[in-house]
Amino acid sequence: MTLPLESFWKEKLDTTYQRTDFLFSLLPREAMLERPIALRHPFLFYLGHLPAFAWNQIGRGVLGAGHLDETFDVLFERGIDPKDAPSARRATHSNWPSIAAVLAYRDEARRAVRARIGEVLGRADDPLCENARILHLVLEHELMHQETLLYMFAECRPGLVPRPASIGPPASGAGHAAERVRISGGDAVIGAAWDEIPFGWDNEFGRTTLPVDSFSLGSLPVRNIDWRAFLRAKGDPPSLRPRSWIPSGARLLVKTVFGPVPFEVAEGWPVQVTGEQARHYCAHHGGRLPTEAELRLAAHMAPDGSRWPFPWDDTAPAPEHANFGFARFFPLPTGMHPSGASAWGVEELIGNGWEWTSTPFSPLPGFAPCARTYPGYSADFFDGEHDVVFGASWATDPKLVRPSFRNWYRRTYPYAFTSFRVAWDD
Ligand code: AVJ
Ligand code: FE
Repeated sequence: MTLPLESFWKEKLDTTYQRTDFLFSLLPREAMLERPIALRHPFLFYLGHLPAFAWNQIGRGVLGAGHLDETFDVLFERGIDPKDAPSARRATHSNWPSIAAVLAYRDEARRAVRARIGEVLGRADDPLCENARILHLVLEHELMHQETLLYMFAECRPGLVPRPASIGPPASGAGHAAERVRISGGDAVIGAAWDEIPFGWDNEFGRTTLPVDSFSLGSLPVRNIDWRAFLRAKGDPPSLRPRSWIPSGARLLVKTVFGPVPFEVAEGWPVQVTGEQARHYCAHHGGRLPTEAELRLAAHMAPDGSRWPFPWDDTAPAPEHANFGFARFFPLPTGMHPSGASAWGVEELIGNGWEWTSTPFSPLPGFAPCARTYPGYSADFFDGEHDVVFGASWATDPKLVRPSFRNWYRRTYPYAFTSFRVAWDD
């Protein structure tokens, strides 16, 4: 007999696989071995990584069922996050298996995982099976990689990944300039208590209250046009040029996952830069990057001290609130979602791009690598070189939009869908 819960998870996994397969289908087969980001493996790695991760976590890790394929389980176990290109070259290898072999492995791993969902759900004495935590973990891992895959598309040579007819063109427009909003101080809540949410990654525990002084915050993220004005004022130093821009003779182009568009199309979108670059912009404007706690306060606390699960209120994130969840495959000009504003009038805290904070990614008090099957998920990045990024991008699945969710990137990483807004001390 198939229990309703078992069908629920099978369906969840299937819809996630469908989107993964759709995204891979956009990539021509001959591009599978390309490595558009020198600090990452080639695309083919990700084709094998998602099923390997699922089997390694569920089959090998939780159920102790052993290897599905000893070579592939290990080859595709983990990605890389090297500091620079020379360490990346050391970290990857050149003789990858054939696409057909990886696809066969993928199908086998998906089948094997599917066959064991009932067993996972039955093991209530294991904290990783309770609430189906390991299934959440595998699902969210795949959802995060869908975003990774997409920002790799943006680094491919123009024309390699054309926009399919099923996806609409990008919206242009200057967007809205940020205004300075004063936020009175209060207690920000970071993370969650273990019993508060059915699933969270290790870095979300435990619930931490941090006092925040009053400060001011940009009502919207910084746009491409704002960054262009800043670059001109600074004399266009190469270190401040966004990697997401392509100078092309007298013209300027902006990268998208389906090839570059003229600057004029993207001028109103949040600018995609590194955390380090963003800090220079903030300083130039007499401000600084906000902290993680400041953005949490701005997102969840109202001036009257009440708290809300989402900036708008307590209704589940939906397309009218924000540009997230693949509603479109591009950023939007800023200011298109006033109904997603927080009680302070701060807009776009969720969606349209992750936002850099000045907070180094580090454990919350009481942190423990909760998944014994994946102890390094967060701990490997508590190194002072990665910063918390806040919110969500257009390529972030709704499942990942929760108040305790914490994302991070290396401060110098230019490839992810990361923008920022400015904060000022009072
Ligand atoms: C949490 C998005 C930074 O992409 O490196 C995927 C997610 N970790 N596989 C990343 C992740 C391992 C991670 N981020
Ligand atoms: Fe991964």
